[in-house]
Amino acid sequence: MEKKIKIVTVVGTRPNFIKIAPLIEEMRKSQRIKPILVHTGQHYDYEMSKIFFDELKIPEPDYNLGVGSGSHAWQTAKIMEKLEKVLLKENPNLVIVVGDVNSTLAGALTAAKLNFPIAHIEAGMRSYDKTMPEEINRLLTDHISDALFVTSHLDTQNLLKEGIDQREIFLVGNIMTDVLMEQKKKVSNSILKKLGLQKKKYALLTLHRAGNVDNKENLKEILSAIKKISERIPVIFPVHPRAKKMINFFGFKRLIKEIPNLFLIKPLSYFQMTSLVKNSKLVLTDSGGLQHETTVLGVPCLTLRNVTEWLITVKQGTNKVVGTSKENIIKEAFKILGSKNRSFLEKRKIPQYWDGKTAKRIIQILLKYYVRH
Ligand code: UD1
Repeated sequence: MEKKIKIVTVVGTRPNFIKIAPLIEEMRKSQRIKPILVHTGQHYDYEMSKIFFDELKIPEPDYNLGVGSGSHAWQTAKIMEKLEKVLLKENPNLVIVVGDVNSTLAGALTAAKLNFPIAHIEAGMRSYDKTMPEEINRLLTDHISDALFVTSHLDTQNLLKEGIDQREIFLVGNIMTDVLMEQKKKVSNSILKKLGLQKKKYALLTLHRAGNVDNKENLKEILSAIKKISERIPVIFPVHPRAKKMINFFGFKRLIKEIPNLFLIKPLSYFQMTSLVKNSKLVLTDSGGLQHETTVLGVPCLTLRNVTEWLITVKQGTNKVVGTSKENIIKEAFKILGSKNRSFLEKRKIPQYWDGKTAKRIIQILLKYYVRH
């Protein structure tokens, strides 16, 4: 019998889990692949990790490195140290990393030092802001990977500008859309009922980027804008652990308590979040995932950052980058609340290959070109 191809996939954070769910499913369907899943343990809370494995039916990881939280250098180094042992033991034909988090870079760097071929999913994204840890992770991961799977032609252009060989770049679409298409079919109102909300009569807020939540000024500006917006529409805020920690640290709990129409809730499962996004009037966020999910779901999105690596969602989708100044956030939110969302929705075009078949394309390409036998 033909020997199976061993593929190690490295994941560590909430968005990584969502992205690899369809990929692992495709690999398991293939008779030729033996998938090995490594969870670095970067995210470890039930609401940040296990709930996604359960809901998206991702198999238990073969290895959990249990690394946890720490400084960037510490976290990256710890993952590398532990992952090296796993890769040496498993001796895979290929290593897959996804996205732009510390687990992505640590996974790619460990594999590169051991000369294992690497595939990077969601390659080529650039915000051109090197103060963001994600930008450093993206740049370095792309330049040591062998197969670069991009979500749009803009990412291909970014990679070509950096001198990367065209033959290593594959436009396959957005893997998160694979999951979103499935979840969209099942969207329910149960979370709305639970929170006492009505369709299109609330806004949704998420915040977790270091540039926002670790920066006292920016966080205060954003919360002050939310205070004003919430006078017109209730705002639901599922709180990321990092945001929770920093709200407490900066002593903003009182400021938040004084906003009667702002509702803080625990982080949600992917299905609950999809239902909440789909039915919202407006999303205010600094997340990467929500910028493209709102484009697919046709919901206006205001990105609370000065730049975005998801430029395609601004050019073709429902996203607008509005920065972090209080006045501007209020101005842009009021525009949406005052209109019937027309300008946002009329220009919307779902980008090429965001069709729910990205995982299939990736596996076909990997089997054809990249697996070392
Ligand atoms: C990480 C990614 C970010 C991604 C985000 C998605 C990096 C550099 N950042 O940010 O790009 O958008 O995940 O969620 O990799 N914490 C918990 N429980 C957990 C995990 C974290 O309480 O399960 C708290 C800890 O206090 C920790 C803090 O959150 O110190 C930050 O966690 P960390 O892993 O450093 O990165 P995120 O902010 O989650």
